[in-house]
Amino acid sequence: MKALFETDPKRVDKLSFEKSGIYFDFSKTHMDSGLLEDFQKLAHDKGLSDQIKALTTGAIINISEDRPAEHMAERGIGAPTSVENANLLKNRMQGLVQAIDAGALGDIEYIIHLGIGGSALGPELLLQALKLGDEKYETAVISNIDGCALEPVMERFDAHKTMIVIASKSFTTAETFLNARSVIDWMKEQGVADPFGKIVALTAMPEAAVEWGIDESRILPFSPAVGGRYSLWSSIGFSVALTLGIEVFEDLLAGAAAMDQHFKDAPFDQNIPVIAAFCDQYYNQIRDCETRAMFTYDERLRLLPDYLQQLEMESNGKSVMADGKPLDRHSSPIVWGGVGTDAQHAVFQLLHQGTHIVPVEFLAVIEPGHSLAAEHHQGLLLNCFGQAAALMAGNISDDNNRNYPGDRPSVTLLLDDLDGRTLGALLAFYEHRTFANAALLGINPFDQFGVELGKEMANALLSGDSNQMDPSTETLKNRAFPA
Ligand code: F6P
Repeated sequence: MKALFETDPKRVDKLSFEKSGIYFDFSKTHMDSGLLEDFQKLAHDKGLSDQIKALTTGAIINISEDRPAEHMAERGIGAPTSVENANLLKNRMQGLVQAIDAGALGDIEYIIHLGIGGSALGPELLLQALKLGDEKYETAVISNIDGCALEPVMERFDAHKTMIVIASKSFTTAETFLNARSVIDWMKEQGVADPFGKIVALTAMPEAAVEWGIDESRILPFSPAVGGRYSLWSSIGFSVALTLGIEVFEDLLAGAAAMDQHFKDAPFDQNIPVIAAFCDQYYNQIRDCETRAMFTYDERLRLLPDYLQQLEMESNGKSVMADGKPLDRHSSPIVWGGVGTDAQHAVFQLLHQGTHIVPVEFLAVIEPGHSLAAEHHQGLLLNCFGQAAALMAGNISDDNNRNYPGDRPSVTLLLDDLDGRTLGALLAFYEHRTFANAALLGINPFDQFGVELGKEMANALLSGDSNQMDPSTETLKNRAFPA
């Protein structure tokens, strides 16, 4: 990398881009004009342009499930009927937000949002990132079946001033419904007359919600063609719109739409999600890096690595291609990460001196999210930049213990500010990068059959039907739950 900087003084200009309040710096990677050309040829061979067109026009690209991928329709891009439908549903969501604000469900101060995976991570990420602390409602997002997650919320919230949001695309997910039943029981125990009257359901299966006992006026449907991990733009974002305000939610959609247009229209050598995918493919396939780490130098975005884990690993962690043939190379890199500066004092040892090469993504925000002394934010950001510089520069020493090989790649994303628009653009960037990677691999990123077998096994154990289990699992079960 050092040589690349020496031979091309304009490297930073050529490999950094600005879009929607986000500066993307790819210069501390091994990408150069030759590689960029090669990857553009690969993209051409893999039909990336046609696939982007198919995605953005609502064609059936989720082949295994025989449907389009309509998350962009929530932001105004897709088949006209899907966009129209998404707008109508959004108006319903807006109406319900206004009604609850006006007291339709009584005096509400607390929201318990129940959901898991894509029905929780997006809303929780947005709430953590954008809440200012002066909101009208206190909202808890509860995903885990572990009662340690729910119980403290029940202890803190006043049941009489609480509403429940059940977020589940399929309206069948075991964790979400056990938690829902426990919250309803708690409300009843606390003397709430009609807990069902305080439930809002967010789902692609509205009939199932009606059957469960929820009034239609409080069911906010979304299209089954919006994937779970792509769903925060749909009614799954309801708790965000209610807690932070509908304007913030609209900003989020507008920010994402700006990134959508860019992804749709920009030539590949200027297309930010596509260039990010080229870097991913280079490190994953050619340099054999099996993981990629992302560190947010911003506490407000501490959930982003988890969100990206689901987005990328559930989308592209597959061994089969869209045409049913086995994939003959690495699928998604293993995405991991944490928060800076904390991670520097925990895992960065391996990044600087370990035998694995881990491409790193750094993310920081120029405008601080607090009013403490400027040295906090200066320290935060300069640590971020310093780590990236050290990974690249290294420091060769005769003492092997103190030798830093350097030449370790990173990408830096620098946001002007953390607001709805910028965050919308950022999350849309990640979606499109995931899609571009899938297209380059020939994978369908919109199904997730790999999650089913474990659910089936757990259900078999729960129902006591564990005849087929191996001796190790039987022993564990008997030790935890002796007969
Ligand atoms: O089990 C995986 C998964 O289906 C994810 O794809 C999804 O985001 C999550 O579970 C929650 O599913 P649902 O929204 O249907 O409850």
